[in-house]
Amino acid sequence: MRIALGADHAGVTLKDQLKQWLIARGDTVTDVGTHSTASVDYPDFAAAVAREVAGGRADRGVLVCGTGLGMAMAANKVAGIRAAPIVDEASARLSREHNNANIITLGARLTALEEAQELLRIFLVTEYQGGRHQQRIDKISALDKRP
Ligand code: RB5
Repeated sequence: MRIALGADHAGVTLKDQLKQWLIARGDTVTDVGTHSTASVDYPDFAAAVAREVAGGRADRGVLVCGTGLGMAMAANKVAGIRAAPIVDEASARLSREHNNANIITLGARLTALEEAQELLRIFLVTEYQGGRHQQRIDKISALDKRP
């Protein structure tokens, strides 16, 4: 898969570890930064990954900050993005099956590497179920078009 990755200073270490894991899996990775632990503003990186996904240049996005929360709030401002902050395996699966989430956000202060890899693995392999969920996704998409 083509995966866009981004993080702030709190998430950069986990982002870089997940990047190596994705490359080892055979995924194609676009890393929008950040690349150091110098303090940065997470919305800048959320926007960069969200635009890669919304623009069709990436199949899925991965965003890491301290909690995953700010990244999700910012990414969801971009039309076409359904970013889900994920801390457990059931949510990782359901964010795909029911919500067709296209970005996973992770919290480096909440989730250790091994669990983050498993949450990301579930997020990447789980298919959207469609069906009754599609009319709800359509209503989310309609909100993109409102002022
Ligand atoms: C940075 O200290 C922290 O606020 C940020 O990484 C993130 O957790 C925000 O949601």
